[in-house]
Amino acid sequence: MKITHLWALEVLDSRGNPTVRAFLELANGARVSASVPSGASTGVHEAHELRDGDTTRYNGKGVLKAVEHVNTVLAELVVGRDASDQQTIDSDMIALDGTQHLSRLGANALLAVSMVVARAGAVAEHTSLYRYLAHLADRPTNSFTLPTPMMNVLNGGKHAAGASDFQEYMIVPVGATSMIERVRWGSELFHALGKILADEGFQTTVGDEGGYAPSLHSNTAPLDYALRAITAAGYTPGTDIALALDTAASEFYVNDVYTLSTDGTEYSPQELTDWYARLLEKYPIISLEDGHAQDDWAGFQDEIKTFGSRVNIVGDDLFVTNPKRIQTGIEMGAANALLVKPNQIGTLTQTLEAIKIARGSDYTLVVSHRSGETADTFIADLAVGVGAEYIKTGSLSRSERVEKYNRLLEIERELARF
Ligand code: PGA
Ligand code: ZN
Repeated sequence: MKITHLWALEVLDSRGNPTVRAFLELANGARVSASVPSGASTGVHEAHELRDGDTTRYNGKGVLKAVEHVNTVLAELVVGRDASDQQTIDSDMIALDGTQHLSRLGANALLAVSMVVARAGAVAEHTSLYRYLAHLADRPTNSFTLPTPMMNVLNGGKHAAGASDFQEYMIVPVGATSMIERVRWGSELFHALGKILADEGFQTTVGDEGGYAPSLHSNTAPLDYALRAITAAGYTPGTDIALALDTAASEFYVNDVYTLSTDGTEYSPQELTDWYARLLEKYPIISLEDGHAQDDWAGFQDEIKTFGSRVNIVGDDLFVTNPKRIQTGIEMGAANALLVKPNQIGTLTQTLEAIKIARGSDYTLVVSHRSGETADTFIADLAVGVGAEYIKTGSLSRSERVEKYNRLLEIERELARF
């Protein structure tokens, strides 16, 4: 079905910073929208998020230029095309931009259009977004599995000032067999954790991704609190609920040294691997994301050699959802799992290509939100559509996080009915 209108607006994300929301109208009058998220611990190799730099508005963070690009050159390119034309629309937008990191038109402009075209494609086909995304990804559209969430219940790093150096302490309800149960277990644990922290006099205010952000004065104490909360909520650590970490190590790495100021320690890349190995012995951790810095390929190789057979070694800043970097990682044996963030690369088609390459080498998939989110639940459908084993979409609080869980509940219900 023909696309008749395309336009965009500057709206706010969950941190109150501007972001791009695109709208699209089809020939039958149906209207859809899509909003792009924004990171804080952004990898240096990510596609370019275009901000105005005009300090008289939003401290330079406005996105009016990106919005203008949607309203003019991208609308010119897309209006009149068929909504099912995802691949060529995406590749034509990339060609029109003409830069390596989409810095001319902005990856935020391109992704907003790419997402809204996909949503329109689903509407035109009278199908659910996850089913349509499965079709775009060349996957079966008659059998789906739902991802297990990695729920970020304790926030640190760049997402919570005054907390740990590590960015994310996640709980993973591995023993729950349905989304209804996964969400309930996560919520019960989140509240049990809040009670433990409050009883001990810690702050229970939450960080950017909805997890608690107490000053526990150590990078391992949050793991202990998470374990206690699992037990307090009536679950068994490891078999019911496991743990996962995103240390976001690029943020505490300078000149080959990893500095954990909360612990007062410094590690070489090799020493850091050894320390992680000890943590993995002590805690039921099933996944370690960005355990080394974004260009420390040797550090990641070392992780694979040391504990890659029993833990997901997830590349986020390392891969930035970029097919070329994923290919390099595969050749070097530097990870075994891919974090999927569409706004790191700029279009849906490139995201699906990244996924295809990772899957070709049996990588585990973790579809992910950003720390700056909107209420858009696109990634929930994406995770189901591509058959990701995991989804990372924050804690059990804050609507921009919880709405993704709610969307997964809707999808589970829909799949049970048909
Ligand atoms: P970001 O954090 O969105 O701030 O980059 C998320 C992550 O590192 O996984
Ligand atoms: Zn990360």
